[in-house]
Amino acid sequence: MSDLEEKIKEQYGKRKHLNSLYNSYYSMRTMHERGEKIREILSNHQCRDKSVLELGAGHGGNIPMLLMCGFLKENIHLNELLPERIKVIKDNFAEYSLYEGDFLELEFKQKYDYVFQSTVFSSVLDNQTRKTLADKMWDLLKPGGYIVWYDFVYNNPNNNQVRKVTAKEVKSLFPGALRTEFHKITLAPPIGRRVGKLYSLFNLPFLRTHILALLQKPEA
Ligand SMILES: C[S@@+](CC[C@H](N)C(=O)[O-])C[C@H]1O[C@@H](n2cnc3c(N)ncnc32)[C@H](O)[C@@H]1O
Repeated sequence: MSDLEEKIKEQYGKRKHLNSLYNSYYSMRTMHERGEKIREILSNHQCRDKSVLELGAGHGGNIPMLLMCGFLKENIHLNELLPERIKVIKDNFAEYSLYEGDFLELEFKQKYDYVFQSTVFSSVLDNQTRKTLADKMWDLLKPGGYIVWYDFVYNNPNNNQVRKVTAKEVKSLFPGALRTEFHKITLAPPIGRRVGKLYSLFNLPFLRTHILALLQKPEA
């Protein structure tokens, strides 16, 4: 097992007890909300003809959302580091192109119209690794392509295994971005888990903890 793999496994081990507290209605609700928002943002992008790479795809949980946005199965590419998550992807989404291993070590065969990350950066605690990951995401984008970003912007006082990524930091990670758009999204987990089906009622902008961002690389 590589050092990075070991480090990430350890982080997730410590987070297990927190994950188990997650209310499944809340997870489903936030996932649906995220899917709808990404679909709205990409509504005039003709995703049907575009390729997308998801770095740190976890168990493949974002695949339905990418399909919902209009990406075709054959144009969705995934990357994941942890063997047990890779196994889940292979068992459930065998027909998708999957790059196994550390995103930073892998050689990708093509450039992509979209490079997507969802809560990977907040799991990376040191600034230099964040910057190296961002540079590689940028390199893998075609001219005119987009970074799609979802992550949280506030620290969780009960979990020091993750660290916020503010909108300001996102901008600084991609200094060459031509156009950027940021949307506050996702009702804060401590509230969202408690309010159950009243999610929409409580989902006010100042109670949201994540951002969904789109950053465009200039045309060549
Ligand atoms: C918090 S999970 C998010 C999973 C998924 N993106 C989602 O939204 O549900 C972060 C994932 O990033 C993966 N990861 C972290 N660093 C990575 C790297 N350098 N290369 C590939 N995957 C990585 C972890 O193994 C983990 O599955």
